[in-house]
Amino acid sequence: MAHFPDNPGFTAVLRTIRMEGDIADLELEGEVPAELDGAFYRVHPDPQFAPRFADDQFFNGDGMVSMFRFHNGRIDFRQRYARTDKWKLENAAGRALFGAYRNPLTDDESVKGQIRGTANTNVMVHAGRLFAMKEDSPCLLMDPETLETHGYTTFGGDLDVSAFTAHPKIDPDTGNFCGFGYALAGPLTRECAYFEIDPQGAVVRRAAFTVPHYTMLHDFGITPDYAVFNVSPWSSDMATLAQNRPHFWYDRSLPFYIGVMRRDGDGSDMRWFRLEPSVCGCHVMNATQDGTKIHLDLPVSETGSLPFSPTGMAPPTIRRR
Ligand SMILES: [Fe+2]
Repeated sequence: MAHFPDNPGFTAVLRTIRMEGDIADLELEGEVPAELDGAFYRVHPDPQFAPRFADDQFFNGDGMVSMFRFHNGRIDFRQRYARTDKWKLENAAGRALFGAYRNPLTDDESVKGQIRGTANTNVMVHAGRLFAMKEDSPCLLMDPETLETHGYTTFGGDLDVSAFTAHPKIDPDTGNFCGFGYALAGPLTRECAYFEIDPQGAVVRRAAFTVPHYTMLHDFGITPDYAVFNVSPWSSDMATLAQNRPHFWYDRSLPFYIGVMRRDGDGSDMRWFRLEPSVCGCHVMNATQDGTKIHLDLPVSETGSLPFSPTGMAPPTIRRR
C-alpha cells in the first residue's frame, strides 16, 4: 500500500495528485476572450510512487505537466506525467527505485548509472517542442499538444550535456533560448557550459567555464551582450552523500561570487567578482547593461532561506521508510 510521508512536503497544498487525464471545456468564472488562442503550461513534482525515504524532499517527485488550452472562448485541460527514464523504470517495477534528492548513492542497484532526472521544475515551448527541465539532467522533449514524451535530447549531438538548466532566458531580440548546465563532469564537479538555441532548435552558441567552487547553480541573468552567474556558497561533498544528509548546505566560510562573461565568446573571458559571505536563495530578478556596466538584481541574505538546505554542516540523519 502506498504510504507517503506525513510531512509538509507531501500534505496540504503539496499532497500528491498522481492522476493523468483530460477535461474538455472547463467550467469558468467570468469569460475568456474569444480571440485568446494559446496554452498555459505548468509542471509540479508529483511522485509516481511513495519515496524510498520518509524525509524525502518534495521536489524529488516526478514531473507532472498540465496544459490549459485557450481557444474560442473556452479552456481545455490536459495533464500527463513527463515520462522520464526514471518514470519508465519505476513504472515497470511498480515502485520507487531512485533514492534521495541528488544522491545517486541511495538508488536501487538495478538503476545505477541511469539518468535520475524528474523534469519537474520548469516547462517551456521552444522550437516547436515542450522542454521539460530539471537542472540535474538533460532536456526532456514533449509534444506541446498531446503532452506525449519524446525523451531526452542532445539537440542532434550539438549539446550533449548531462545537466540542463530549468531557468533559461529567452533573448527578446533574437528569440534564442539561453541556458547553462553545471556539474557536467559528474556529481559535485565545477565544470559548466553556457549555450544558446535559436528559434529553429539549432545550437548556435556554446561556451565552457568553471565555477570557483561547487554550488547549486540554479538561475542566472542575461543582458544583450553578457551572461551573469551568481555562485552562492551552497556546498556539498561525498561525505554528505555517503551519510545521506541533505545534498546542499550553506557553507558560511565560502565567499559569494558573481561571474560575468560575453555571450558570444567561448567562456575564457569569464571574470569572477568576489563578495562578502552571503547567499542567494535561488532566483535572479533581472540583469541589464549600460555599456560594459552590468546591473544585477538579486535577493541576497546573510542567512540561508531554504528550509531543506541547512546552514553549516547538517547533523547526520538516517533516512528510513
Ligand atoms: Fe527555481
